[in-house]
Amino acid sequence: MKKIIAIDGHAATGKSTQAKKIAKYLGYKYIDSGAMYRAVTHYCLINGWINKLINLNSILENLKNIDIQFKTLNNFQITTLNGNDVEGYIRKMDVAKNVSKIAAIPEIRSFLVEKQRQIGLKNNVVMDGRDIGTVVFPETENKFFLTASIEVRAERRHEELKLNNESIDFSTVLENVKSRDLDDTSRLTSPLEPAEDAIIVDTSNYSVNEVFDKLISLIKG
Ligand code: CDP
Repeated sequence: MKKIIAIDGHAATGKSTQAKKIAKYLGYKYIDSGAMYRAVTHYCLINGWINKLINLNSILENLKNIDIQFKTLNNFQITTLNGNDVEGYIRKMDVAKNVSKIAAIPEIRSFLVEKQRQIGLKNNVVMDGRDIGTVVFPETENKFFLTASIEVRAERRHEELKLNNESIDFSTVLENVKSRDLDDTSRLTSPLEPAEDAIIVDTSNYSVNEVFDKLISLIKG
């Protein structure tokens, strides 16, 4: 295994912003594990497998047909699903509303965890998610768990969505962040929780650069 930096935490705590910056700074590969769960959710939605009930049989039968990759386009990292750029779709609210249900399915978790481990065998990686320090790479020394107040997180996500031209009211975003936290912490398989040896960082009152400086000094230290 190469060098791995695991950044876990609650929804919209700035994990991916930090993970991207750290990866760039250290020359490591950045892997957004949440994008992988979002891409599977998008695949299920376009195939009509998420309605009132989830069509588990169809999802599991078709897992082998899902190929998720990360590519660079105009200096941005994008997520592809079976060769198509799905970056725009996977950040939308319909995916956000369903992703935690899909991420709670054990077979989907093992399918994606295996892919994440394969990437870590070949590359130095900064990976962000929910279970990177606890399940995907429990042996890594660099584990961070980011958190922030619910209002700050919902506010940040609301701003991001507005920048992506998704007009959505603040209360919908707040409810989604709250319900994903609840689903992610209460699921039976790999629930969201800090690894025992993770360093917990509350980002509520700090700027992106302040959090970055703190994380880099901890990594170097
Ligand atoms: O960026 P944000 O915090 O909104 O979430 P994300 O990292 O894109 O992850 C979206 C969802 O995928 C989470 O709410 C979890 O349900 C799931 N996820 C997970 O279960 N395990 C991971 N390692 C990463 C994401």
